[in-house]
Amino acid sequence: MEKFGAFVCLALLLLLHNGDLVEARDEDICRLFSNNTVIRDPDSCSQSITCIDHVSHYSTCSGSTPFFDKDTGKCVKSLSSSTSSCSISCKGVATHFLADPKSCYGYYYCADQETPLYGSCPPETHFNATTQTCTRLYESNCTTSSFEYCSIVKNSVNFDNLAGCNQYHVCEKGVLKDKTCASASYYQASTGTCVAKALVDCDAHPLPTNVCGKASKPTENKFVSDGATCRGYFFCAKQKDGTPDPNPAWNQCPQDRFFDQSNQKCNYPNSVKCTADRCDGRSPTFVLSSTPGCRNYLVCSGGVTLQEKSCGNYFFDEDLGGCVPNVKTYTAC
Ligand SMILES: *[C@@H]1O[C@H](CO)[C@@H](O)[C@H](O)[C@H]1NC(C)=O
Ligand SMILES: *[C@@H]1O[C@H](CO)[C@@H](O)[C@H](O)[C@H]1NC(C)=O
Ligand SMILES: *[C@@H]1O[C@H](CO)[C@@H](O)[C@H](O)[C@H]1NC(C)=O
Repeated sequence: MEKFGAFVCLALLLLLHNGDLVEARDEDICRLFSNNTVIRDPDSCSQSITCIDHVSHYSTCSGSTPFFDKDTGKCVKSLSSSTSSCSISCKGVATHFLADPKSCYGYYYCADQETPLYGSCPPETHFNATTQTCTRLYESNCTTSSFEYCSIVKNSVNFDNLAGCNQYHVCEKGVLKDKTCASASYYQASTGTCVAKALVDCDAHPLPTNVCGKASKPTENKFVSDGATCRGYFFCAKQKDGTPDPNPAWNQCPQDRFFDQSNQKCNYPNSVKCTADRCDGRSPTFVLSSTPGCRNYLVCSGGVTLQEKSCGNYFFDEDLGGCVPNVKTYTAC
Protein backbone atom coordinates (compact mmCIF):
# COMPACT_ATOMS: atom_id res chain seq x y z
CA MET A 1 0.00 0.00 0.00
CA GLU A 2 3.00 2.28 -0.31
CA LYS A 3 1.33 4.45 -2.93
CA PHE A 4 -1.38 5.64 -0.61
CA GLY A 5 -0.20 8.70 1.22
CA ALA A 6 -1.94 10.81 3.77
CA PHE A 7 -5.60 11.14 3.20
CA VAL A 8 -7.02 14.47 2.32
CA CYS A 9 -9.39 15.51 5.03
CA LEU A 10 -12.84 15.84 3.66
CA ALA A 11 -14.04 18.17 6.36
CA LEU A 12 -14.61 20.80 3.68
CA LEU A 13 -17.09 18.55 1.96
CA LEU A 14 -19.25 18.67 5.04
CA LEU A 15 -19.07 22.40 5.44
CA LEU A 16 -22.61 22.89 4.41
CA HIS A 17 -23.95 26.37 4.25
CA ASN A 18 -27.12 26.63 6.24
CA GLY A 19 -29.45 29.08 4.63
CA ASP A 20 -28.16 32.16 2.93
CA LEU A 21 -26.25 33.76 5.77
CA VAL A 22 -22.52 33.49 5.58
CA GLU A 23 -20.21 34.16 8.48
CA ALA A 24 -17.53 36.80 8.14
CA ARG A 25 -14.80 35.27 6.08
CA ASP A 26 -11.27 34.46 7.05
CA GLU A 27 -10.19 33.30 3.59
CA ASP A 28 -10.22 35.43 0.47
CA ILE A 29 -13.77 35.54 -0.86
CA CYS A 30 -12.37 35.65 -4.40
CA ARG A 31 -11.53 31.95 -4.22
CA LEU A 32 -15.20 31.48 -5.12
CA PHE A 33 -15.32 33.79 -8.14
CA SER A 34 -14.21 33.63 -11.73
CA ASN A 35 -11.56 35.93 -13.08
CA ASN A 36 -12.46 39.64 -13.23
CA THR A 37 -15.78 39.24 -11.41
CA VAL A 38 -16.70 42.42 -9.51
CA ILE A 39 -18.68 42.17 -6.27
CA ARG A 40 -19.44 44.51 -3.41
CA ASP A 41 -17.14 44.12 -0.43
CA PRO A 42 -19.28 42.32 2.18
CA ASP A 43 -17.58 44.54 4.76
CA SER A 44 -18.48 47.88 3.23
CA CYS A 45 -21.25 49.71 1.42
CA SER A 46 -18.69 51.75 -0.49
CA GLN A 47 -16.04 49.31 -1.58
CA SER A 48 -15.98 46.90 -4.45
CA ILE A 49 -13.81 43.86 -4.94
CA THR A 50 -12.46 42.80 -8.32
CA CYS A 51 -11.38 39.17 -8.27
CA ILE A 52 -8.17 38.64 -10.23
CA ASP A 53 -6.81 35.11 -10.19
CA HIS A 54 -8.82 34.46 -7.00
CA VAL A 55 -7.29 37.40 -5.14
CA SER A 56 -9.33 40.41 -3.94
CA HIS A 57 -8.47 43.85 -5.30
CA TYR A 58 -10.33 46.65 -3.55
CA SER A 59 -11.66 49.92 -4.94
CA THR A 60 -13.47 52.64 -3.02
CA CYS A 61 -16.31 54.90 -4.13
CA SER A 62 -15.85 58.49 -3.08
CA GLY A 63 -17.12 62.02 -3.46
CA SER A 64 -20.74 62.56 -4.46
CA THR A 65 -21.16 58.88 -5.48
CA PRO A 66 -20.10 57.10 -2.30
CA PHE A 67 -22.00 53.79 -2.66
CA PHE A 68 -21.11 50.78 -4.75
CA ASP A 69 -23.97 49.32 -6.77
CA LYS A 70 -23.30 45.59 -7.29
CA ASP A 71 -25.85 45.37 -10.11
CA THR A 72 -24.38 48.04 -12.36
CA GLY A 73 -20.81 47.81 -11.03
CA LYS A 74 -20.80 51.59 -10.64
CA CYS A 75 -20.40 54.10 -7.83
CA VAL A 76 -23.77 55.76 -7.18
CA LYS A 77 -25.29 58.58 -5.16
CA SER A 78 -27.59 56.31 -3.17
CA LEU A 79 -28.81 52.72 -3.08
CA SER A 80 -32.53 52.09 -3.07
CA SER A 81 -33.68 51.30 0.44
CA SER A 82 -35.91 48.40 -0.60
CA THR A 83 -33.08 46.33 -2.03
CA SER A 84 -30.20 47.17 0.22
CA SER A 85 -29.18 47.44 3.81
CA CYS A 86 -26.73 50.07 2.59
CA SER A 87 -29.16 52.95 2.51
CA ILE A 88 -27.94 55.81 4.65
CA SER A 89 -29.75 59.07 5.13
CA CYS A 90 -28.22 62.39 6.03
CA LYS A 91 -31.63 63.92 6.69
CA GLY A 92 -31.37 65.88 9.93
CA VAL A 93 -27.79 64.84 10.61
CA ALA A 94 -25.79 67.26 8.45
CA THR A 95 -22.17 67.64 9.59
CA HIS A 96 -22.45 64.38 11.56
CA PHE A 97 -20.76 61.06 10.99
CA LEU A 98 -22.76 57.86 10.39
CA ALA A 99 -21.46 54.30 10.64
CA ASP A 100 -21.14 52.17 7.51
CA PRO A 101 -23.85 49.55 8.25
CA LYS A 102 -21.61 46.83 6.79
CA SER A 103 -18.37 47.72 8.39
CA CYS A 104 -16.66 48.44 11.71
CA TYR A 105 -14.12 50.81 10.19
CA GLY A 106 -16.13 52.68 7.55
CA TYR A 107 -18.18 55.83 8.11
CA TYR A 108 -20.03 58.53 6.20
CA TYR A 109 -19.66 62.22 6.84
CA CYS A 110 -22.85 64.11 6.03
CA ALA A 111 -21.63 67.23 4.28
CA ASP A 112 -25.25 68.43 4.12
CA GLN A 113 -28.78 66.96 4.38
CA GLU A 114 -28.26 64.74 1.33
CA THR A 115 -24.56 64.22 0.74
CA PRO A 116 -22.83 61.41 2.58
CA LEU A 117 -19.09 61.21 1.95
CA TYR A 118 -17.35 57.92 2.58
CA GLY A 119 -14.33 57.59 4.79
CA SER A 120 -12.61 54.87 6.75
CA CYS A 121 -10.76 54.76 10.04
CA PRO A 122 -7.02 54.13 10.25
CA PRO A 123 -5.82 50.56 10.79
CA GLU A 124 -6.42 49.11 14.26
CA THR A 125 -9.37 51.43 14.88
CA HIS A 126 -13.14 51.19 14.57
CA PHE A 127 -15.65 53.91 13.94
CA ASN A 128 -17.94 54.69 16.88
CA ALA A 129 -21.10 56.66 16.08
CA THR A 130 -21.71 57.58 19.71
CA THR A 131 -18.38 59.29 20.17
CA GLN A 132 -18.22 60.31 16.47
CA THR A 133 -14.60 59.21 16.31
CA CYS A 134 -12.37 56.34 15.33
CA THR A 135 -11.57 54.49 18.53
CA ARG A 136 -9.01 51.88 19.35
CA LEU A 137 -10.10 48.27 19.06
CA TYR A 138 -10.20 47.59 22.79
CA GLU A 139 -12.76 50.38 23.17
CA SER A 140 -14.98 48.95 20.48
CA ASN A 141 -17.44 46.11 20.66
CA CYS A 142 -18.26 46.24 16.97
CA THR A 143 -18.11 42.89 15.16
CA THR A 144 -18.49 42.34 11.45
CA SER A 145 -21.72 40.52 10.92
CA SER A 146 -22.79 37.83 8.52
CA PHE A 147 -23.83 38.73 5.00
CA GLU A 148 -25.97 37.36 2.21
CA TYR A 149 -24.27 36.48 -1.05
CA CYS A 150 -27.03 38.00 -3.11
CA SER A 151 -26.49 41.38 -1.44
CA ILE A 152 -22.93 41.50 -2.77
CA VAL A 153 -23.14 39.52 -6.05
CA LYS A 154 -25.28 40.53 -8.99
CA ASN A 155 -27.78 38.19 -10.58
CA SER A 156 -26.69 35.46 -13.02
CA VAL A 157 -23.06 35.31 -11.87
CA ASN A 158 -22.02 31.74 -11.09
CA PHE A 159 -19.81 31.15 -8.09
CA ASP A 160 -18.45 28.20 -6.18
CA ASN A 161 -20.29 27.01 -3.10
CA LEU A 162 -17.47 24.70 -1.94
CA ALA A 163 -20.03 22.02 -1.11
CA GLY A 164 -18.99 19.58 -3.83
CA CYS A 165 -17.11 19.38 -7.09
CA ASN A 166 -20.22 19.63 -9.24
CA GLN A 167 -22.02 22.34 -7.30
CA TYR A 168 -22.21 26.08 -7.52
CA HIS A 169 -24.38 29.03 -6.61
CA VAL A 170 -26.09 31.72 -8.62
CA CYS A 171 -28.38 34.57 -7.56
CA GLU A 172 -31.65 34.68 -9.47
CA LYS A 173 -33.75 37.77 -8.84
CA GLY A 174 -31.79 38.32 -5.66
CA VAL A 175 -32.38 34.79 -4.34
CA LEU A 176 -29.52 32.36 -3.80
CA LYS A 177 -29.90 29.14 -5.81
CA ASP A 178 -27.97 25.88 -5.58
CA LYS A 179 -26.99 24.51 -8.98
CA THR A 180 -25.49 21.22 -10.11
CA CYS A 181 -23.35 20.67 -13.20
CA ALA A 182 -24.47 18.09 -15.78
CA SER A 183 -23.31 14.56 -14.98
CA ALA A 184 -19.97 14.41 -16.80
CA SER A 185 -18.77 17.80 -15.59
CA TYR A 186 -17.51 19.68 -12.56
CA TYR A 187 -17.69 23.33 -11.60
CA GLN A 188 -14.56 25.32 -12.36
CA ALA A 189 -14.38 28.42 -10.17
CA SER A 190 -11.77 30.18 -12.33
CA THR A 191 -14.06 30.30 -15.36
CA GLY A 192 -17.44 30.11 -13.64
CA THR A 193 -18.51 27.22 -15.87
CA CYS A 194 -19.04 23.47 -15.81
CA VAL A 195 -16.18 21.66 -17.56
CA ALA A 196 -14.84 18.12 -18.03
CA LYS A 197 -14.19 16.51 -14.62
CA ALA A 198 -10.51 15.95 -15.21
CA LEU A 199 -9.93 19.68 -15.68
CA VAL A 200 -10.96 20.42 -12.12
CA ASP A 201 -8.61 19.67 -9.28
CA CYS A 202 -11.27 18.82 -6.75
CA ASP A 203 -10.60 17.18 -3.43
CA ALA A 204 -14.26 16.93 -2.57
CA HIS A 205 -15.61 14.52 -5.17
CA PRO A 206 -19.29 13.86 -4.55
CA LEU A 207 -19.79 10.58 -2.78
CA PRO A 208 -21.25 7.97 -5.12
CA THR A 209 -24.41 6.34 -3.72
CA ASN A 210 -23.53 3.59 -1.25
CA VAL A 211 -19.83 4.26 -1.84
CA CYS A 212 -18.95 2.33 1.30
CA GLY A 213 -21.57 -0.36 0.85
CA LYS A 214 -25.05 -0.79 2.24
CA ALA A 215 -25.97 -1.06 5.91
CA SER A 216 -26.34 -4.83 5.46
CA LYS A 217 -22.85 -5.19 3.95
CA PRO A 218 -20.55 -2.25 4.68
CA THR A 219 -17.17 -1.92 2.95
CA GLU A 220 -14.64 -1.75 5.77
CA ASN A 221 -11.02 -0.58 5.66
CA LYS A 222 -10.94 -0.75 1.86
CA PHE A 223 -10.19 1.61 -0.98
CA VAL A 224 -12.96 2.21 -3.52
CA SER A 225 -13.04 4.14 -6.80
CA ASP A 226 -14.35 7.71 -6.61
CA GLY A 227 -16.55 6.93 -9.62
CA ALA A 228 -15.45 10.16 -11.32
CA THR A 229 -11.79 9.79 -12.26
CA CYS A 230 -9.38 6.96 -12.98
CA ARG A 231 -6.93 8.11 -10.29
CA GLY A 232 -9.25 9.04 -7.45
CA TYR A 233 -10.35 6.77 -4.64
CA PHE A 234 -12.00 6.85 -1.25
CA PHE A 235 -10.93 5.01 1.85
CA CYS A 236 -13.88 3.48 3.67
CA ALA A 237 -12.91 3.13 7.30
CA LYS A 238 -14.47 0.51 9.55
CA GLN A 239 -17.00 2.19 11.83
CA LYS A 240 -17.35 1.30 15.50
CA ASP A 241 -21.07 0.77 15.11
CA GLY A 242 -20.72 -1.40 11.99
CA THR A 243 -22.44 1.05 9.63
CA PRO A 244 -20.93 2.13 6.26
CA ASP A 245 -18.38 4.96 6.58
CA PRO A 246 -20.46 8.11 6.01
CA ASN A 247 -17.44 10.29 5.29
CA PRO A 248 -14.71 8.36 3.46
CA ALA A 249 -11.50 10.28 2.76
CA TRP A 250 -10.63 11.03 -0.88
CA ASN A 251 -7.17 10.84 -2.42
CA GLN A 252 -5.67 10.17 -5.82
CA CYS A 253 -2.87 8.15 -7.37
CA PRO A 254 0.31 9.88 -8.54
CA GLN A 255 0.85 10.99 -12.13
CA ASP A 256 0.67 8.07 -14.62
CA ARG A 257 -0.94 5.65 -12.16
CA PHE A 258 -4.60 4.66 -11.99
CA PHE A 259 -6.52 3.33 -9.04
CA ASP A 260 -6.94 -0.43 -9.26
CA GLN A 261 -9.77 -1.48 -6.99
CA SER A 262 -9.38 -5.24 -7.48
CA ASN A 263 -5.75 -5.11 -6.36
CA GLN A 264 -6.31 -2.24 -3.90
CA LYS A 265 -3.40 -0.23 -5.21
CA CYS A 266 -2.24 2.41 -7.67
CA ASN A 267 -1.30 0.55 -10.84
CA TYR A 268 -0.11 1.09 -14.40
CA PRO A 269 -3.01 2.63 -16.36
CA ASN A 270 -3.15 -0.13 -18.98
CA SER A 271 -3.68 -2.69 -16.20
CA VAL A 272 -6.75 -0.88 -14.90
CA LYS A 273 -10.28 -0.99 -16.30
CA CYS A 274 -11.68 2.54 -16.12
CA THR A 275 -14.00 4.39 -18.46
CA ALA A 276 -13.56 7.87 -16.92
CA ASP A 277 -11.19 10.22 -18.76
CA ARG A 278 -8.00 8.22 -19.27
CA CYS A 279 -6.03 11.34 -20.19
CA ASP A 280 -6.34 12.58 -16.61
CA GLY A 281 -2.94 12.69 -14.95
CA ARG A 282 -1.13 11.17 -17.93
CA SER A 283 2.17 12.34 -19.42
CA PRO A 284 1.99 10.84 -22.95
CA THR A 285 0.02 12.66 -25.65
CA PHE A 286 -1.42 9.37 -26.97
CA VAL A 287 -2.88 6.90 -24.48
CA LEU A 288 -4.86 3.71 -24.70
CA SER A 289 -8.66 4.09 -24.87
CA SER A 290 -10.99 1.90 -22.78
CA THR A 291 -12.96 1.00 -25.93
CA PRO A 292 -13.03 -2.83 -26.09
CA GLY A 293 -10.63 -4.41 -28.59
CA CYS A 294 -7.56 -2.28 -27.79
CA ARG A 295 -7.58 -0.69 -31.26
CA ASN A 296 -8.46 2.82 -30.10
CA TYR A 297 -6.40 5.56 -28.53
CA LEU A 298 -6.98 9.01 -27.08
CA VAL A 299 -5.28 12.26 -27.96
CA CYS A 300 -4.60 14.08 -24.69
CA SER A 301 -3.97 17.73 -23.94
CA GLY A 302 -3.66 19.27 -20.49
CA GLY A 303 -5.02 16.17 -18.78
CA VAL A 304 -8.18 15.80 -20.85
CA THR A 305 -9.18 13.88 -23.96
CA LEU A 306 -9.24 15.96 -27.12
CA GLN A 307 -10.41 13.11 -29.32
CA GLU A 308 -10.53 9.37 -29.73
CA LYS A 309 -8.92 7.78 -32.76
CA SER A 310 -8.81 4.27 -34.16
CA CYS A 311 -5.91 2.17 -35.43
CA GLY A 312 -8.29 0.51 -37.88
CA ASN A 313 -7.23 -3.13 -38.16
CA TYR A 314 -4.10 -2.48 -36.08
CA PHE A 315 -3.68 -2.33 -32.34
CA PHE A 316 -2.53 0.57 -30.21
CA ASP A 317 0.83 0.21 -28.50
CA GLU A 318 1.17 2.88 -25.84
CA ASP A 319 4.91 2.34 -25.32
CA LEU A 320 5.53 3.08 -29.00
CA GLY A 321 2.78 5.72 -29.07
CA GLY A 322 1.50 4.24 -32.34
CA CYS A 323 -0.45 1.54 -34.13
CA VAL A 324 1.10 -1.92 -34.59
CA PRO A 325 -0.05 -4.96 -36.61
CA ASN A 326 0.57 -7.54 -33.88
CA VAL A 327 -2.27 -8.28 -31.44
CA LYS A 328 -2.17 -6.29 -28.20
CA THR A 329 -4.28 -7.09 -25.17
CA TYR A 330 -4.53 -5.09 -22.01
CA THR A 331 -6.83 -5.28 -18.99
CA ALA A 332 -7.89 -1.73 -19.79
CA CYS A 333 -9.58 -2.56 -23.09
C1 LIG B 1 -7.21 37.11 -14.99
O1 LIG B 1 -7.41 38.44 -15.36
C2 LIG B 1 -6.24 39.23 -15.33
C3 LIG B 1 -6.60 40.67 -15.59
O2 LIG B 1 -7.53 40.79 -16.62
C4 LIG B 1 -5.23 38.67 -16.32
O3 LIG B 1 -4.03 39.42 -16.28
C5 LIG B 1 -4.94 37.22 -15.95
O4 LIG B 1 -4.07 36.65 -16.90
C6 LIG B 1 -6.23 36.43 -15.91
N1 LIG B 1 -5.95 35.08 -15.44
C7 LIG B 1 -6.25 34.00 -16.13
C8 LIG B 1 -5.95 32.68 -15.49
O5 LIG B 1 -6.79 34.05 -17.23
C1 LIG C 1 -18.95 53.55 21.40
O1 LIG C 1 -18.40 54.18 22.50
C2 LIG C 1 -19.28 54.17 23.64
C3 LIG C 1 -18.66 55.05 24.68
O2 LIG C 1 -17.28 54.78 24.84
C4 LIG C 1 -19.44 52.72 24.07
O3 LIG C 1 -20.31 52.64 25.19
C5 LIG C 1 -20.03 51.91 22.94
O4 LIG C 1 -20.11 50.54 23.30
C6 LIG C 1 -19.18 52.06 21.70
N1 LIG C 1 -19.87 51.41 20.60
C7 LIG C 1 -19.30 50.46 19.85
C8 LIG C 1 -20.14 49.93 18.74
O5 LIG C 1 -18.19 50.06 20.06
C1 LIG D 1 -21.90 47.39 22.37
O1 LIG D 1 -22.16 47.49 23.78
C2 LIG D 1 -23.30 48.29 24.07
C3 LIG D 1 -23.41 48.38 25.56
O2 LIG D 1 -22.16 48.32 26.17
C4 LIG D 1 -24.54 47.63 23.47
O3 LIG D 1 -25.66 48.45 23.71
C5 LIG D 1 -24.34 47.45 21.97
O4 LIG D 1 -25.44 46.75 21.43
C6 LIG D 1 -23.06 46.69 21.71
N1 LIG D 1 -22.85 46.64 20.29
C7 LIG D 1 -22.42 45.55 19.67
C8 LIG D 1 -22.21 45.68 18.20
O5 LIG D 1 -22.20 44.50 20.25
